[in-house]
Amino acid sequence: MEPLNPWTEGFHERLYDIYRDYRENRPVHWEGEPLPSTRGSWYLFRYADVSAVLKDSRFVKSLATVFPEKAGAPTEPAPAAADPTAAAESTHPAPDALARAPRPVTFGDMASQWILFRDPPDHTRLRRLVNVAFTPRAVMSYSSRVEQIAGELLRPALRDGGMDLIADFAFPLPVIVIAEMLGVPAEDRGKFRVWSNAMAAALDTEWNEEIDRRAAQATGEIWEYLTRIIEKRRENPGADLLSALIAARDQGDRLSEDELVAMAILLLVAGHETTVNLIGNGMLALLQHPGQMELLQREPQRAAQAVEELLRYDAPVQMTSRFAAVDVELGGHVIRKGDNVVVVIGSANRDPEVHPDPDRLDITRQAIHHLGFGGGIHYCLGAPLARREGQIALTTLLKETPTLRMACDKPSWRPGMVFRGLQNLPVEIG
Ligand code: HEM
Repeated sequence: MEPLNPWTEGFHERLYDIYRDYRENRPVHWEGEPLPSTRGSWYLFRYADVSAVLKDSRFVKSLATVFPEKAGAPTEPAPAAADPTAAAESTHPAPDALARAPRPVTFGDMASQWILFRDPPDHTRLRRLVNVAFTPRAVMSYSSRVEQIAGELLRPALRDGGMDLIADFAFPLPVIVIAEMLGVPAEDRGKFRVWSNAMAAALDTEWNEEIDRRAAQATGEIWEYLTRIIEKRRENPGADLLSALIAARDQGDRLSEDELVAMAILLLVAGHETTVNLIGNGMLALLQHPGQMELLQREPQRAAQAVEELLRYDAPVQMTSRFAAVDVELGGHVIRKGDNVVVVIGSANRDPEVHPDPDRLDITRQAIHHLGFGGGIHYCLGAPLARREGQIALTTLLKETPTLRMACDKPSWRPGMVFRGLQNLPVEIG
């Protein structure tokens, strides 16, 4: 059984073979103490287990929910950092203690305010507040702007006969979109990228002091940056999401000041680290399957279904995690109260029990039930936006650049296990 070590040579290329091996032979796997600072995690590889845990209220996001009596205790054992939750929890105290934390906050302090790491009832309150901005209808109203941005981003590539599909297209598209939706200057996206990358690194499997230091610095800077913009919007509200969140905050104590800033940071980070990989991984898969690419080129009305298949085939977010709130029996093992459970979405999506012939890319596949956006109460808030961006990105690319082809033999993957995406994808046009 190959260890789950993304720093092994060729790990990213062999990823789905490694998953298959675990799924077939050790679907409920205890990875003990992968890092000195952690105490290990359960990894789940089968669709049925992953889907069940995501929907099961006995599995929660915050250790403070599991051990309220210990919340904030500095001696709390740190869980494995195989997931945003774990990383956030491992380096900072619990939410109750955070309300008293002085600002500027550390990354862990700030991230523990994220809706992503909260359990009901706080989760329910936060979700209600931001839901309106991401409904399919709200997102549709933004579609023509997304199309316009996609067209503008492609212009230099059409002129030059090529581009790095990641840096020049897949990355800036969702970043400009979320910046405009929030109402922060899209020209500052160079700064967002540095901040976002530093925070995303702290959310992945590897942890060291340098990663921690950079994430803390990024948190301080982005916190100050957004606080200043929030002050301006408060005086001068606009039609943007930040103004809507401020209004929610100022209508009584429904969103604390810290939650407001943290929410804005999460939306910016989520806009940076995920959809770029849907577009990048999706285009790589199509370039490697020319028949499928031609089909989508001929029949662009298949874009919505193609995006679902691409999310299944090579998920941008490969795993997430929960803590067991009580002892739970799973696959013949007892998962103890407080244990960290990593659900491997990327493996679940390739489970033949649910998706026959799972390693075949087929944009005409029926009955796609991928878990790319998670499941249960934390189901991705940005899913309607990400889907629309993905559809527009693929159709624009295939329409405007009919002769698109890869300009390298083997694209390289970014390090890490949680987010799966390419470092770059050089392509030629014409
Ligand atoms: C293809 C792109 C995306 C993918 C694959 C993705 C994936 C996910 C997944 C798997 C979760 C669930 C995590 C868990 O259960 O622990 C999640 C939650 C979330 N996503 Fe996304 N995401 C994407 C794009 C976005 C975008 C564009 C935004 C917003 C701008 C966003 C905002 C969020 C938020 C706020 C949550 C937390 C929801 C909650 O806790 O209730 N996501 N996402």
